[in-house]
Order: sequence, then structure tokens, then C-alpha cells
Amino acid sequence: MKRFFLWNNRYLWYSKYITMYTTLQFVHSYWAYLVLVIVFLATINALIGFFSNKEYSPRDFRISLFALIVTHIQLLVGLILYFVSPLGLQSLTSNGMSTVMKDSMLRLYAVEHPLIMILTIIFITIGYSKHKKKLVSKPKFKMLAIFYTIGLILMLSRIPWSQWF
Ligand code: HEM
Repeated sequence: MKRFFLWNNRYLWYSKYITMYTTLQFVHSYWAYLVLVIVFLATINALIGFFSNKEYSPRDFRISLFALIVTHIQLLVGLILYFVSPLGLQSLTSNGMSTVMKDSMLRLYAVEHPLIMILTIIFITIGYSKHKKKLVSKPKFKMLAIFYTIGLILMLSRIPWSQWF
């Protein structure tokens, strides 16, 4: 009776863990579409604003802020996922650093994707806060255009495209 209870308890814990993993994976995977679209729009908007000498408007502020918010939410989910997914930290501890670094797919998930995405979000955050400190339109758009473009390129370079679709 006691053994059965223990086994049952363990099974429950295991299934809850799997549910948490698949939920986070689902959220991270679908939220990425929103991140991609919004960061792309915010970058194009900043580039158009800069090159056409447009007047900075509340609409420009909203789209750059929205890009900041969606990427930060993705960072939060990604960080938790890194500690739950078999492709994150567990991959490093169970396969070992040298095996992971030799396999391009394992390396992408456990090392390159998390590091480059954190860098992407750092660039977007710096761009957003620098643009807020500028007082006139041209330098505002310039800061957004530079930092959001670098962030977008970095992001596009390390999305696991082949596994995502
Ligand atoms: C702009 C930020 C990010 C974007 C757009 C993004 C996008 C993605 C996409 C599209 C996938 C593939 C999902 C699938 O196969 O269905 C993925 C997987 C993953 N991401 Fe991110 N990600 C971001 C940030 C992060 C961060 C900051 C971390 C961790 C620190 C992270 C950790 C992971 C992990 C561990 C997986 C593999 C999950 C699994 O299938 O087990 N991501 N990400």
C-alpha cells in the first residue's frame, strides 16, 4: 500500500513536470511569432522615420515600447524553459560541454540560441532607453534604427527555423 502511494506520488510529480514543460514550450513557440512580427515592424518603422525625417509621434513610441515588452516576456519564458527543457541546461549536464559544442543542433539550443537572444534583448532595451533620452525626432529614430536593426539581425540568425515550422 505504501509503495503504491509512493509510486503514485512520483508519477503525479512526473506528469506535472511534463505538463509544465510542454506548456512553456507551446507558449515560447507561439509567442515567438508575435515577437518576430512586432520587432520587425518596430525596426522598419524606425528606419522609415530616420530616413524620411518624419516627426516622432505617440504611435512611434507605442510600437517601440510594444517591441520592448513582448521581447521581455519572451525572455522570461525562455529563461524558465532553459531550466526545464531537455534541450537546455539538462542537455549540457547530461551530454557534457564538449559533446554539445561538437553537435550543431545541441549547441544551437543549449548555448547559441539563449546567449544570442539575451544579446538581442539587451540591444533592444538599450535602443529603447537611449531613444527616450533624446529630445528631437531625428536622434530618437536614429537610436531605435541602430539598436533594433542589430537586435533583429541577431534574432533572425539564431532562431531554430528547421524545428520551429
Ligand atoms: C527574442 C527572444 C526569443 C525568441 C524569438 C525565441 C524563439 C524560439 C523558438 C522559435 C524556438 C523553437 C520552438 C519550437 O521548436 O517550437 C525556441 C526554443 C527554445 N528557446 Fe527560445 N526564443 C527567445 C529567447 C530565448 C531565451 C532568452 C532563452 C533562454 C535563456 C530561450 C530558450 C529556448 C529553449 C531552451 C528552447 C528549446 C525548447 C524545447 O523545444 O525544448 N529562448 N525559442
